[in-house]
Amino acid sequence: MGCTIIGCGKALPALEVANDDLAKLVETNDEWIVTRTGISSRHIAVDETGTDLAEAAARAALGWSPDGWCEASLAPEDIDLVIAATFTSDALVPSAAGLLRERLGLENAIAFDLNAACTGFVYALTVAETMMAASAAGFPGAAGRNPIRRALVVGSERLTHVTDWADRSTCVLFGDGAGAAVVEWDEARPGILASFILNTTDDTGALSCPHAFDAPVPFDADGVAPALLDGAGNVPYATMPPASHADDAHVAALQEPPLQTVYMDGQKVFKFATEAMTEAIHRVLERSGVALEDVACIVPHQANERIIKYAAKKLGLPLDLFQLSIANVGNTSAASVPMALADAYAAGRIKRGDKVIMVAFGGGFTSGAVLFEA
Ligand code: ACO
Repeated sequence: MGCTIIGCGKALPALEVANDDLAKLVETNDEWIVTRTGISSRHIAVDETGTDLAEAAARAALGWSPDGWCEASLAPEDIDLVIAATFTSDALVPSAAGLLRERLGLENAIAFDLNAACTGFVYALTVAETMMAASAAGFPGAAGRNPIRRALVVGSERLTHVTDWADRSTCVLFGDGAGAAVVEWDEARPGILASFILNTTDDTGALSCPHAFDAPVPFDADGVAPALLDGAGNVPYATMPPASHADDAHVAALQEPPLQTVYMDGQKVFKFATEAMTEAIHRVLERSGVALEDVACIVPHQANERIIKYAAKKLGLPLDLFQLSIANVGNTSAASVPMALADAYAAGRIKRGDKVIMVAFGGGFTSGAVLFEA
């Protein structure tokens, strides 16, 4: 018995931007980006909200649209839990999961968000499984009015809206999208065989998006600071810089637009990523007792094709065991693994009974893997 994936789907924004187009913004070229990352184009949400993308991916996973893979179409009342993995939700409140629950009319579902950066979907699936297992065991702490038997787990990001479009070392990497999976507690199928999630200290801030939610306040360390108000007595809408007194620089900085972009030390992240991926894969194999040679498909976080190639080499595995989906989507953070999973199902790579590993790493640092039987 276990938490079994019974549907998955993905959604991308309409606008696709090729590498050559980015060369109009920053000094770069198609050859550099393809060789270093495996990315040729990415999709950018101009008109779509995160909720729009998550909704389209969820509809495909639920069998409400023909775009996904699904074993059985469910009714809205069948869903007991929605977890959205994201760090770029449309609003802080309501949560992305709450907005999705409303859009889809999932009246019975409890809904909340989870931020574990690019590992978010692996964390969310692990939390969903744990809640389902607790519920199946009759644990009274399990939330909601109903036992949790079916969950919608979504990874959705609009990363291009926290991208520094003047920084060529990051802006060529990111894209927007959403992926979703429907999971069901099935007494007759093993489903998830093992999970492993881990945080590792990122002591140099190698991967961060530091200025989120910095609404300015008219106070400094000494108390009320009227100088921080504009001429009309209002707090100017801008990012609060880390200053402790109302000097001119502080006031000037308050006039700047919010700086809410991803910073990344690419080489540090690269090194962390390859180690974290191989450890997570070994851990879920150990925990499940499954042999590496019995794994039919590995669905990794699509951050950089070179990272996947490097990990394959380190594990002594052929590259064709790995689902590669990065070429036309880029790095979509928490959406990356469920979108790649949807691609693997759509391509017929995952069949009933196959052992499959999903593995990811990201800011925090977070990392993890889920090994499941399809
Ligand atoms: N076009 C052309 N040249 C570039 C570009 C670009 N877009 N970006 C950087 N360069 C230059 C650099 O300036 C540098 O030039 P220099 O030698 O004159 O100084 C040169 O290319 C090499 O730069 P490196 O940073 O050493 O390039 P590297 O081979 O390490 O590739 C990359 C960079 C692709 C970012 C790689 O380090 C990487 O993929 N790291 C991991 C990223 C990752 O996995 N992120 C996941 C998490 S993201 C998240 O959680 C939101």
